[in-house]
Amino acid sequence: MSAEPHAPRAASPRSPSAPDALVVDAGPEQVRRFREDGFVAFERITTDEEVAWLGQRWDALFADRGTWFDVSQPWGRGPEDRLGQMIFPELRAPELRETCFFANARRIAARLLGLAPEELEAWGHMVLKAARSGHPTPWHQDESYWKPGFEYQALGCWLPLEDVNGDNGCMCFLPGSHRGPLLPHRHLGGDPSIHLLELDVEVDVSGAALVPLRIGGATFHHSRTLHSTAGNRTDRPRRAFANEFQTPPRPR
Ligand code: NI
Repeated sequence: MSAEPHAPRAASPRSPSAPDALVVDAGPEQVRRFREDGFVAFERITTDEEVAWLGQRWDALFADRGTWFDVSQPWGRGPEDRLGQMIFPELRAPELRETCFFANARRIAARLLGLAPEELEAWGHMVLKAARSGHPTPWHQDESYWKPGFEYQALGCWLPLEDVNGDNGCMCFLPGSHRGPLLPHRHLGGDPSIHLLELDVEVDVSGAALVPLRIGGATFHHSRTLHSTAGNRTDRPRRAFANEFQTPPRPR
């Protein structure tokens, strides 16, 4: 039986790159910048082949509309998708962990946090910022989404699946904000039916740093670092694969 000539080829279930195809670690200067600023960018964390494959896996997972939700508007009530989020994609696609990207991200995360890689748990989320209508992600600290009453040692690794800049929602960080307390947040516009959180206090973000990246690079930020992304003004969706690395949360 011959293959359908026009059938799209299914994405390979395994990464084209072995976990050790490219070994990246954080050096002393990157550790110093992470401690001082609360974030650091890596220009390359995986191979071109693998980041293209991750984009295919992202597309295949997001094709099932029942597996993700729009965090910028009340459940099921939006006229169009603007800011989609899929939590724990590794449960559906365990091959996301058998990657050069994941091996490097875990190694770097451990180095930046000053911990052994085996001490870190990880969980992923995939994000869609829709073309043209992609909603901004307001200023927030990731820790605001988590259970209060616990102490966290955590950072987020953010891997965009296309080139990113100010037009399609690259990361924007407020340097040094991770050294302050967890600030008050509220649901977007004060509407508890919207998942997205925003700062509920005035903060001077005039010193914020925009971090454009070429595909294949990634940013790492502390769980208390204030960050935001602009809307997507381009004609292409902006896809991202984020992973949180943390020690098990401890009661305060
Ligand atoms: Ni965040």
